[in-house]
Amino acid sequence: MFKKNGMIVFLIGAVVLLNLCVYTYLEYKMSTPVTMTMKQDSMPSEDSEEDFFITLVHSKDWPEGPREHGIQYDAVFHNNTGKDLTNWSVRIKLPKGARISDSWNIEYELDGPVLTVRSMEHNSIVEAENIQSFGFIIMCPVIEDITDITYTFDIVYKLTDYKLFRFNIVLTFILATVIIGYFIAEYRIAPVKRENEEDKSIIVQTMQTFSNFIDTKDPNTKGHSMRVAYYSKELAKKLKLPDRDVELIYYIALLHDIGKIYIPDEILNKPGRLTGDERAIIETHAAKGAEILKDFTAIDGIADGARYHHERYDGKGYPQGLKGENIPFLARIIGVADSYDAMSSDRCYRPRLSKEAIVNELKVNSGKQFDPEVVACMLELMESYEFYTGMLDD
Ligand SMILES: [Fe+2]
Repeated sequence: MFKKNGMIVFLIGAVVLLNLCVYTYLEYKMSTPVTMTMKQDSMPSEDSEEDFFITLVHSKDWPEGPREHGIQYDAVFHNNTGKDLTNWSVRIKLPKGARISDSWNIEYELDGPVLTVRSMEHNSIVEAENIQSFGFIIMCPVIEDITDITYTFDIVYKLTDYKLFRFNIVLTFILATVIIGYFIAEYRIAPVKRENEEDKSIIVQTMQTFSNFIDTKDPNTKGHSMRVAYYSKELAKKLKLPDRDVELIYYIALLHDIGKIYIPDEILNKPGRLTGDERAIIETHAAKGAEILKDFTAIDGIADGARYHHERYDGKGYPQGLKGENIPFLARIIGVADSYDAMSSDRCYRPRLSKEAIVNELKVNSGKQFDPEVVACMLELMESYEFYTGMLDD
């Protein structure tokens, strides 16, 4: 659950970060317009297919006094592209001795023969596939056509002009779909999960109640089954068993001593030393427990836990004298957990053993009574504070 939520938080973070980076970058690019400079020596016609061009038409002329002529020029800035242009200006080389007598739709500056015209506020943008017209009248000594025109402008880019923007939109859409899909799925399966949790809690509580019932048979071992279940689960986690097995071993260990309900109280609670016969009767609890649990197939291995938890690694255990890895691994784990609880609990015939004594017992019996791999894990767990406090939490 934590891993899944972590992945979703990561995805949301990635989407936000990606969009921040893309928009910051594009904002920067768009605030830096591309300026183009073009020279137009021979006048194109109005139906030219150039992307950007200016037509300058000498529309009329007339004599203006004895030594001057008036000439009117009507100009059109053509934008045949899909992008707006802005900040346009035009440099026009006028005939020698020319001066401006009138103009429209422009501001201008005359420096010798060079006329620089700039757009005004109302016509500063030549929109995509559109035109802007302007014009001026010059007075000059001779009538001479203008051919030398240079113009500059900025191309206005929109977000949608950038491939990066389009790619980002697609990627954001895909990631957003994944995230929304996850939340919808979570919303839909929440009731199922809740029911599962409730079912699980019923199973755990039923089994814990049953294990308490087993433990009441022997007042010396109050809470023994719950503690063995907890130790077994911690060992299984430490041994890196799959999550499912960690869960199962808890249930299996809860009922490992179920066969004790067959053992007469006077033998189970006998304070003194047991006779050989009495010991033999007690030892039957393993096989009897397995017999009780043989039809409990919903929890895989539960009968084996009861049957084999007193087998020894060296083959000297009971009921079958299985040896080494022939003993089911879960039973070897429960065996160590069972003995650890026996050593760390007070009994009527002796007080609990010190930690050092338990460590020593485990080491001495590693490879004899116990699986060395499980003992090594138990010794590590005993060094961990969480191991002891974890049981209080459970
Ligand atoms: Fe037992």
